[in-house]
Amino acid sequence: MKGIILAGGSGSRLYPITQSISKHLIPIYDKPMIYYPLSVLMLAGIREILIISTPEHINLYKILLGDGSRVGLKIFYKIQTEPRGLPDAFIVGEEFIAGEKVALILGDNVFFGQGFTPVLNEASSLKEGALIFGYYVNNPEEFGIVEFDKSWQVISLEEKPNNPKSNYAIPGLYFCDEDVVEITMGLEPSQRGELEITDLLNDYLKREKLRVQLLGRGFAWLDTGTYDGLLEASNFVGTIQKRQGLYIACIEEIAYNKGYITRQDVQKIADAISNTDYGKYLKMISQKEETHK
Ligand code: G1P
Repeated sequence: MKGIILAGGSGSRLYPITQSISKHLIPIYDKPMIYYPLSVLMLAGIREILIISTPEHINLYKILLGDGSRVGLKIFYKIQTEPRGLPDAFIVGEEFIAGEKVALILGDNVFFGQGFTPVLNEASSLKEGALIFGYYVNNPEEFGIVEFDKSWQVISLEEKPNNPKSNYAIPGLYFCDEDVVEITMGLEPSQRGELEITDLLNDYLKREKLRVQLLGRGFAWLDTGTYDGLLEASNFVGTIQKRQGLYIACIEEIAYNKGYITRQDVQKIADAISNTDYGKYLKMISQKEETHK
């Protein structure tokens, strides 16, 4: 399975922070935001990843992550000239996807929770159709929403409804089969002139090929779309990391645990940034056989 991180858009809700920098490079505590979605794809075992961003910002991602070999990945880059909606990622990425299955994650989505890795492993072994997640929130009108019947069968999917039929938001992580590009090509732009992810998912639903997995109440899916959301996400990551001494979304650690890079590779990266806590953490990691699950 391949992976796409959509890190486009103008980030207008975060002006003036995003006046000159890309939203997905803003720090969440001690790492650029994009490390969090990148780590999710890595935990899903996905190693070929396309980063889609704007013409102004794409080079910044290249500087940050290069070709990905530092963490055992193959990272590719593609420009989205204007925001045309989330499913447009599948059109921009058509060549990269090359008829395979693909996971799309939004560059501003932060996930954290016990048992997430097995969930991701199962998701990335998807056979057909699409798999998405449902997460209970108290502000459903701000997200794509999924409505269930009494036996938890999906009834409807709606994008940012004024009167949400449920509190279950659809996080920005979508696992899709080979049909995704063709289905996207057949979508019509909505009233706001963009392709809508819910329209794409509704197509899978109509064909009875949509699966929704709920992420339980002990799970954290954080919003980074507002100033408060950014601060809260940073505090959340800082709190967990300080309490446990274990990092969230440390891409070098994940690469090491997965056997993509060696102890020496981690040491080398650590030595180059030994004056930072991040560097010290990597040094600690490199001295262990394997880090905590
Ligand atoms: C997008 C999607 C929405 C989803 C959300 C998750 O909205 O359109 O369905 O719930 O991401 O982050 P955006 O936040 O880009 O407006």
